Amino acid sequence: MRHLSVPKRQTQSMFLQLAERGWLAPRARVLEAGEERLLPLSEEAPAPLPAPFEGLEEVDAEQPAPFPRRWLERLPQWVSEEEIKANEGYWPNAQEPLGDLLLFKLEKEIQQYAQEIALAKLAHHRGVRAAFWDRGVEGEFRVRNLEPLAARHDGEVIGRVELDSLEPDVRTELLSTRSRVREHGVDIDIDPGTAFFSHRLQTERFRTVDSALALKERLGRPIAVADPYCGVGPALAHMLAHTDLIGDLLASDLNPKAVELLLVNLARKGVTDLPDRPEPLSEVSPGRFVGIADALTLADDPALAGRFDLLLINLPHDTLHHLPHLLPLLRRRSTSLVRGWVVAAEDDMDEINAELMEVLRPLAQGAPPPILELRRPYNVTEWLCRFEAWLEFST
Ligand SMILES: C[S@@+](CC[C@H](N)C(=O)[O-])C[C@H]1O[C@@H](n2cnc3c(N)ncnc32)[C@H](O)[C@@H]1O
Repeated sequence: MRHLSVPKRQTQSMFLQLAERGWLAPRARVLEAGEERLLPLSEEAPAPLPAPFEGLEEVDAEQPAPFPRRWLERLPQWVSEEEIKANEGYWPNAQEPLGDLLLFKLEKEIQQYAQEIALAKLAHHRGVRAAFWDRGVEGEFRVRNLEPLAARHDGEVIGRVELDSLEPDVRTELLSTRSRVREHGVDIDIDPGTAFFSHRLQTERFRTVDSALALKERLGRPIAVADPYCGVGPALAHMLAHTDLIGDLLASDLNPKAVELLLVNLARKGVTDLPDRPEPLSEVSPGRFVGIADALTLADDPALAGRFDLLLINLPHDTLHHLPHLLPLLRRRSTSLVRGWVVAAEDDMDEINAELMEVLRPLAQGAPPPILELRRPYNVTEWLCRFEAWLEFST
């Protein structure tokens, strides 16, 4: 390819002048050649170049191979072109980066290539430490079943065989599922191998903050928030990032491993007097209740009943069953707000809406009906939905 050789200090001005005239080759790189820099010329660039480029030397130089733009372009390093073609449409485009981890799901048609896919994805995403096959969430703690497939060790991408030959503590550290994510400037410690967390819910968290701010405005004071399925506490971390938004607080989960990370995330946001390790729910400081608890029993505690302005119910497969047990946590004779998430098939939505309108009342004056809003597809037949209910209990 033709290149214009320019003294290093003139690189930027020459680059801009070529670009203005459309004479820079698209997607080609500026090359180094000792004290000179080689600017790649487009096919439209006249030969020889007129002023102000005349007098500068033109050279023929080889551009390096272009950087692959998709992970799939790296797969031929591990899988033959015929096999790639035969499975077209199944190779997983989507993946979930979580801090320095990469999680991806696999259709059954290509599960036999799990190792090769992990190596190619890891080679492509340079900031990633380890790649895992995400086999979906399981059990009442909704924790993902993660199969470790590849990791980056001393700058090299290695697979299962090499991982097995490492010292056990090196291997354990490399494949640890503990990490840290950042959402709109809010750091959250996570461990998707032991406690539920999904980046995909971050928009829900932003909307929760919006609603919490609106409730604070309406009540004219910091609000008391109950998040009894809080996991590692991402929704609370976002709300706590707003000064004086939260007053009293209930942060609990049934999974001790989630509470372990919750303590780290709350401490980072300025919640004090927390225990060093996960313990059963207790009042760690006046009005602030943190720890392991079964949400179904919380309202039996007179210290918690009738105390909260905002209730979050994020147990999407059981929300409707749990909801009546949690409403007694809400304050009486004042506006309160419930935000909940439900996994539902489209055919069931009318019935669920009727049930929500039956359970969630009396509504605050002028409040819209608490009906499901589609948020994102959950699987091929179901949706993750959200409802929001502005309530006002008289007694
Ligand atoms: C879908 S996750 C939501 C976690 C968190 N709110 C978030 O958005 O990341 C549901 C959480 O509920 C917890 N959980 C399940 N059953 C529970 C119960 N009976 N009481 C309290 N927490 C429960 C699970 O451990 C899990 O962390």
